[in-house]
Formats: sequence, C-alpha cells, structure tokens
Amino acid sequence: MNNFFLKGNICHTPEIGKLETFENSYLLCENGKCNGIFADIPEKYSSYPVQDTNGSLIIPGMVDLHIHAPQYAFRGLGMDCELLDWLDRHAFPEETKYSDPDYAQKAYSIFASDLKKSATTRAVIFATRHSQATIQLMDLMEKTGLVSFVGKVNMDREAPEALKEENADSSAADTVRYITKAFERNYKNTYPIITPRFIPSCTDSLMEKLSEIRRKYNLPVQSHLSENLGEVELVKKLKPDALFYGDAYDSFGLFGKESNTVMAHCVHSTDAEIERMKENGVWVAHCPDSNMNVSSGVAPIRKYIDKGLRIGLGTDVAGGHTQSMFRAIVASLQVSKLYWRLIDQSVKHLSFSESFYMATKGGGSFFGKVGSFEKGYEFDALVLDDSVRPHPQEISVSQRLERAVYLGIDLDGIKEKYIRGIKCI
Ligand code: GUN
Ligand code: FE
Repeated sequence: MNNFFLKGNICHTPEIGKLETFENSYLLCENGKCNGIFADIPEKYSSYPVQDTNGSLIIPGMVDLHIHAPQYAFRGLGMDCELLDWLDRHAFPEETKYSDPDYAQKAYSIFASDLKKSATTRAVIFATRHSQATIQLMDLMEKTGLVSFVGKVNMDREAPEALKEENADSSAADTVRYITKAFERNYKNTYPIITPRFIPSCTDSLMEKLSEIRRKYNLPVQSHLSENLGEVELVKKLKPDALFYGDAYDSFGLFGKESNTVMAHCVHSTDAEIERMKENGVWVAHCPDSNMNVSSGVAPIRKYIDKGLRIGLGTDVAGGHTQSMFRAIVASLQVSKLYWRLIDQSVKHLSFSESFYMATKGGGSFFGKVGSFEKGYEFDALVLDDSVRPHPQEISVSQRLERAVYLGIDLDGIKEKYIRGIKCI
C-alpha cells in the first residue's frame, strides 16, 4: 500500500480565490489519494513513513488543459503572425513531419522528457493527424508517469495536401485505429480523446463521424473555439447555418453535455456562446501567452468566473512559447490587468489565488477529483525548493508561493513530483 506523509509548507486552493496554507504540516497520502492535512501525526497513522521536505513548499501538481506536443519543436519561433497565417507558415509545415516515425520519436521524446521535469502533472494534449505517431507519443507519455489525454487530430479540409487527411472516411477509420490501439496498450495514465482540430479543418461529414465514434467509445472532446477574429469570420463562411461558432460543435453533439469537452481560448465568445458553454458544462482552457503571441486578444476570464464556467489554464505550446504552467499563471494575471486597464475598468483583474486555482483545481476537474489536497482528491503534489532563489528575510508561506511562481522556480526548484501518490521525480 502506498501510504505516507509529506512534511512541509502546504498550499492549495479548495475554492477559487481562497488560498489555504499550512505551515510545517503533514499531508497524508493513502492509496494514492489525499486523506487530510495535520499539524501533528495522529496516533493511528504513526506507522506510516514521513518524507520530510525540510521546509519546502508542497503544492498540487499543475494541470495543462491545452498543449500541442508536435509544436514543442518550434516553440519560441515564428511569433510574427496571426493565427491562420501562423498555422500555414509554422504549425502545419512542422506537423507534416510527423508522418515519419523516426522524426516523431525524436521530437516527442524531447517533449515527454521536458514535460516530466516540469510542474505539470496532468495534460490534455493535441498530437497530429497521424495515428502511428500519436501512439508513439502515448507510449512516451505513459512512461513519464504523468496523466494525460492525447488526441489524434482530425483535419480533412483547409490545410496543405501533405497534412490534410484524404477524406472524412479515412480520417474516421484512422481515429478508430488509434483508439483501438490505445486501448490494447492498457495504459494506466494515458487516454484517447476526440480531437477535431477546429471547425475550419473539419467537414460536416467528418464531424458526424467523430460524433458517432465519440458516442461509441464514450470519450471526451477537445478543440479550439473563438480564438481569433479571422478564424471566427472563416467559421461564419464555412458554417453559415450555425448560430455562433460553438453552435457548430454543438450541432454535432461535440460540445459538452454528455461528453467532457474542453475548448481552448474562447477569446471572442459571444453572450449566446458563453450561455451555451455554461448550459453544456464546457471547460474553457485559457491560454494567455498564446493569445498574446499570435495577437488573438484577451479572453474575458472574469466574466467566465462570475458566470460559473468551468475554467483552467493551458500553455498552448507553440502558440504559447513555453510549457511552464507557472508562466501561464503569471501571464493570466498580467493579461487580466491589461484587460482591466485598457478594455473595461469595471472588470476586476484576477488575483494570484484565482489563477492558482485555475492552474490546479479548475483544470483538474476535467480529470475528476484532481488539483487540491482535500480528502479524496488524487495525490498529485510538487515539492518546491524555493531556496534556489535566496531571500534575505523571513516571508510568509503564501508570499513564498507567489514569489516561487513569479520567479519560475519550476525551472530548477522542483525537488519531488508525485502523481496518484507515485513519485515520478
Ligand atoms: N486552431 C487550430 N489549430 C490551432 C493550433 O494548432 N494552435 C492554436 N493556437 N490554435 C489553433
Ligand atoms: Fe491550441
């Protein structure tokens, strides 16, 4: 049985905006789940081993709700255009290379290895349209110990010939092949997810087939929504019968309700779209760095929080230039301040604890009871050694956490990482 205590300075956000800290306390892991935070070890647990972190910070693992594994290779490059041009000039040419299993193995090995070292414990991942390379990525992700959904991308229109799938039938058949292979592998931590790239990339016929596959295998869904103004206009042209962008997904049963669905961005969502997301329980993956890098705009996150939408953070590599979820937290705070200052001064900017919640329990809810140290939550934890950035004074635990996130302690200060109670760093 995997039962033990972690001793240190424990922080989590059981509610949005409410950071709780426990100085020099004991976090109990029983059978891979959290089972309490204690000032002293209760007698009945006295036989459990204690891992003393010597004053380190102990926080829930980060959940990256949206990241593109094949784009990791060109992160930090090509930030000179808006979304549709960026796809044509940078993303699509790179993704074409994943038809070659050797290239896929090389590039995905770097991605998986770096994600393992990062603060991320769970991720919702786009691969490419290639089923074989997607299975290679799933094999590599499984070895990291991280928990992830990995989607073979579907795209049968509006892309270069070398990347576009031949037609809806072949795209659907390849999707079933990848799902079947993934199930045969009996992964513990790695799951398939239905992944229409976005409405411009998928014909109606393909969307219908994906909806059937989704129902048959009871899978979640990931895609992009209302990211960029040019994209929103293109969707109006390609899908004139849809009431709004999200309605196009919904008309195929690929927008929440019976399936867990995460939509990346939602920068330009209309009130009707926001209302539908709320009704259908769709998760928003807020990707602030990407929104800045490809000049998409600033998502109205305060509005989404006030309306009670499900919301988490994503890095959206390579729209986002880094896999660091600490950086995603900082970027979400910075863009919310610009929104408040430049767009609408009646909209309060986010607080650190609100963004921390989005990066942990907010996105974690896509995986179930994840992202908090409340009893019954899965034991995903990071031990952070913030002494790698020495400070001349004693500061509080909450100050230490905020500083560790802003100063990027995830780069060189992750001492230990636990996922479902199993140590993977
Ligand atoms: N919309 C469709 N594909 C993509 C992608 O690869 N990245 C981003 N940011 N948006 C998209
Ligand atoms: Fe994306």
